[in-house]
Amino acid sequence: MCGIVGYIGNDNAIDIVINGLENLEYRGYDSSGIAFLDEGNIDVVKCVGRINNLKEKLSKEYKNFFSNIGIGHTRWATHGVPSDVNSHPHLSMNGKFAVVHNGIIENYLKLKEELEKLGFTFKSETDTEVVSNLLEKLDDGDFLNTVFKMKKTVEGSFAFGILKKDTNELIATRKESPLVVGISDSGFYVASDIIAILKYTRDIIYLENGDLIHFKDNSYTIYDKNDKIVNRELKHINWSVETATKDGFDHFMLKEIFEQPKAIKETLLRRLDEDNNLNLDGLEDLLDSDLKRFNKCYVVACGTAFHAGLVGKNILEKAFNFPVILDIASEFRYADNFLDENTLLIIISQSGETADTLAALREAKRKGAKVLSITNVVGSSIARESDNVFYTFAGPEIAVASTKAYTTQLVSIYMIALKIGRILNNISKSEYDEIIENLKLIPDKIQLMLKDTQIYKSIAKKLKDKSNCFYLGRGLDYYTAMESALKLKEISYVYTESFAAGELKHGPIALIEDGTIVFVIATQRKLYEKVISNIKEVKARGAKVFEITQFDDSNCVCDVKILIPKTIEILMPIISVIASQLIAYYASLAKGNDVDKPRNLAKSVTVE
Ligand code: AGP
Ligand code: GLU
Repeated sequence: MCGIVGYIGNDNAIDIVINGLENLEYRGYDSSGIAFLDEGNIDVVKCVGRINNLKEKLSKEYKNFFSNIGIGHTRWATHGVPSDVNSHPHLSMNGKFAVVHNGIIENYLKLKEELEKLGFTFKSETDTEVVSNLLEKLDDGDFLNTVFKMKKTVEGSFAFGILKKDTNELIATRKESPLVVGISDSGFYVASDIIAILKYTRDIIYLENGDLIHFKDNSYTIYDKNDKIVNRELKHINWSVETATKDGFDHFMLKEIFEQPKAIKETLLRRLDEDNNLNLDGLEDLLDSDLKRFNKCYVVACGTAFHAGLVGKNILEKAFNFPVILDIASEFRYADNFLDENTLLIIISQSGETADTLAALREAKRKGAKVLSITNVVGSSIARESDNVFYTFAGPEIAVASTKAYTTQLVSIYMIALKIGRILNNISKSEYDEIIENLKLIPDKIQLMLKDTQIYKSIAKKLKDKSNCFYLGRGLDYYTAMESALKLKEISYVYTESFAAGELKHGPIALIEDGTIVFVIATQRKLYEKVISNIKEVKARGAKVFEITQFDDSNCVCDVKILIPKTIEILMPIISVIASQLIAYYASLAKGNDVDKPRNLAKSVTVE
């Protein structure tokens, strides 16, 4: 999720930690804080908003203060809205431990209840504060052993930085969330991202999953996931600061495309228990009393989020057993809709700040509709004004072109529809199990696609001198064609249209001429023969056709078949879009465009 920085050594930890956090600002965050040792006590300064707010607080309360041990955090909220009290570091009830955390503690509610029964009190709504009180509960006088016991107790993803009162030591440990260590003559560093400490050292240790590092007496020891002492290789990093910002990728967009397996796991697996039951935190009241009162459902969004809604329409209609109406927010908000207290409005927005979408939400609430939003930003305007919120947990998405937010939106819609379908008994247990089992396999299938992107690079080069091209599809593939066309046009500036393949003969085929590039998305077996006919139609007029499909049929009529991993057809949109994301990325690169910041576009359209 977001950023951690820690330091122990001869220099001023406060300066080093703050500088490190500033180097992590690009990742997006909502609050920040720092904890440091002050003659044995742990002092904490933290606040919501930009790091400048933190620096102002520090300069007021600790001007020119020196401490040689400190930990800091930039927060991307998952549990508890962005606020001063929910910011990290979190002190334990008696101030004995301070914790900064990246990730999600899945069993925090159970642990919190147990700790409250023992008399522990909490100040924040976060999952992380449970960890600081848990350390205090488990404290046996040995800092290292206490952390070992904590590690065995918490479930979920974490990168922790931990301080203990009256203890000139620092401990950091990770599971799923990243954590690197920096080594220098003047001290030791931990950070969630190399960029935070590159100014001080290029000698880096990458901690492995489950590792713990203990800094003590001007030295360190690393323990593996079984608490056994282990050596990890010290690497000298030659990356530029620019490259390090993107974790070694050339662009945020490529980094975020490659983050999709992990992002989908974050979105899906934290809501699934061992029996494959979906626990949709935040939707409890919607899924209980409200559900049966709805007789209509609208899905409203903009751009990529709208395309996610289109893909989700089929399964939502199956779940409700009535029509689901899709609309783009800028049209919906001015239309005469049939909204009332029996209407469910599903809002989809990565940023949670899109002006048109927020306006649509307010209009719907004014008319009595219940609003469920699917968003990636905790505490965003749309999240705060919705009746129920479902977070995608995709982590910060920096590139303007949305990728991991889109695929996690799709997974989110499937989960919500499956839950609703089971409650209303419109989706059978066997249908539910089949989709859930196949959803769980999606991250590995995407990982497989990402192992070899050569075909996408070579196809993209063919777009270098093109000024237009087309995406075609039928059914679910038509919606993926729309999203694929948007991806390509917005970052390569190639004029790209998407058409329902069946519509070609009603006009668009007039645009096809010799050498026109046409991408056809064909993943729905029952429509495949029809799509083959469409491929023949455009080829007969000179088109060069690239087919994105899982069908390795021998009767290949296209020019280039892009074979993608197969899954059940209702989930194929999550797989097929990866191909078009990569085509768009490499096409933009071939054109020499600013991939992450394409012309005329903003990441969050907060104006109408
Ligand atoms: C997608 O690649 C675009 N950046 C854009 O269409 C975006 O999806 C749209 O502006 C909606 O943004 P939101 O999801 O933050 O509301
Ligand atoms: N789950 C923690 C919280 O919501 C940490 C989030 C993060 O990784 O920044 O505070």
